[in-house]
Amino acid sequence: MAKAKLKQVRVGFMGVGGVARWAHLGHLSKWEDVKLVAFSDVNKEGVEKAAQEFGAKAYTDNKAMLDREELDAVYVCVPPFAHTDQELLVADRKLALFVEKPLCTTLEKAREINEAVKKSKIVAAVGYNWRACEITRKAQEIIGKNPISAAYGYWVGGMPGVMWWRQMKQSGGQLVEQTTHVVDIARYIIGGKVTSVYAAGAKGIAKKRVEKHDVHDNSIALLTFDHGTVCALGSGHLSPQGFRTGIDLLLDGMTLTHNNSELRVKHEKGEEVYRNTNKPYEDEDRKFLDAVKSGDGSSVCCTYADAFETHRVTMAANESMETGEVVKL
Ligand SMILES: NC(=O)c1ccc[n+]([C@@H]2O[C@H](COP(=O)([O-])OP(=O)(O)OC[C@H]3O[C@@H](n4cnc5c(N)ncnc54)[C@H](O)[C@@H]3O)[C@@H](O)[C@H]2O)c1
Repeated sequence: MAKAKLKQVRVGFMGVGGVARWAHLGHLSKWEDVKLVAFSDVNKEGVEKAAQEFGAKAYTDNKAMLDREELDAVYVCVPPFAHTDQELLVADRKLALFVEKPLCTTLEKAREINEAVKKSKIVAAVGYNWRACEITRKAQEIIGKNPISAAYGYWVGGMPGVMWWRQMKQSGGQLVEQTTHVVDIARYIIGGKVTSVYAAGAKGIAKKRVEKHDVHDNSIALLTFDHGTVCALGSGHLSPQGFRTGIDLLLDGMTLTHNNSELRVKHEKGEEVYRNTNKPYEDEDRKFLDAVKSGDGSSVCCTYADAFETHRVTMAANESMETGEVVKL
């Protein structure tokens, strides 16, 4: 269990690439109740540079970092395929854990980690930062108890530049890697349980021009919820010119469109637009660190157990694309 009533949280990082730097380290390094103690990354040059910049110690071995350093919390910011034993090592030492989405590329590994996290009773959060948006809270307030009939979610844009993204085994594909944010916010706002998933994908266009490419170019998934809401999800990466990222929620006489920075509410009398007034990445980190300090793991934006439910949905969609069958959850 995380130590209660900590004054300063001693933090380690496993993986200090893109997201660690631009979404977390910048503000963590400025917060007085955080000490960035040590970083570990398989990229020696990269980790030494980051460690020097943020005044931490550099390691190229995650276990060696945990063995030698006194830490309270560890951020795991590695690519989807690279989740092997990091979380298990952290849970075994009963340190708090923050993991960037997606959990990994398989259901088995995520389940093993989820069980280890539960057993160790550590504070564990996952970086589903759309939950931390002020507009998410606003959407929930506007919706209240009114039923949501249907939702259309999208993450259709260009292809991320990192090599691992374009390979199914390494990223899990667009639905698992990026649309997972939309799946998660759909679950968070709609509520209830996803009971079945059907998905179909189109492949072969980007493969002709992009080296080592085998992910779907586009896919469409259909989710059904236990209380009857239906949700269609588009995932694609053939549109660097931009298409759509976000979710439309259809209620009786009202539609809400949430795109992570803006919420548009349309009804018979007109339209209102709300924008985020907060910094979601900072707020999810703040909640996590406060949870580490208090020992209350239920106060994080997204627990590992909750993220596991989102992961089950994206894994079911991949399974459905493979088999052509509806997957019941
Ligand atoms: N929440 C968000 O908005 C958001 C945004 C971007 C990325 N992400 C997620 O963060 C994760 C990392 O993405 P990124 O953009 O930082 O990727 P990246 O490739 O830029 O960085 C990953 C880092 O992990 C290191 N690494 C690989 N295997 C490792 C291991 N076994 N141990 C330690 N370090 C290891 C790499 O050397 C690299 O420095 C992905 O799962 C991605 O989806 C989340």
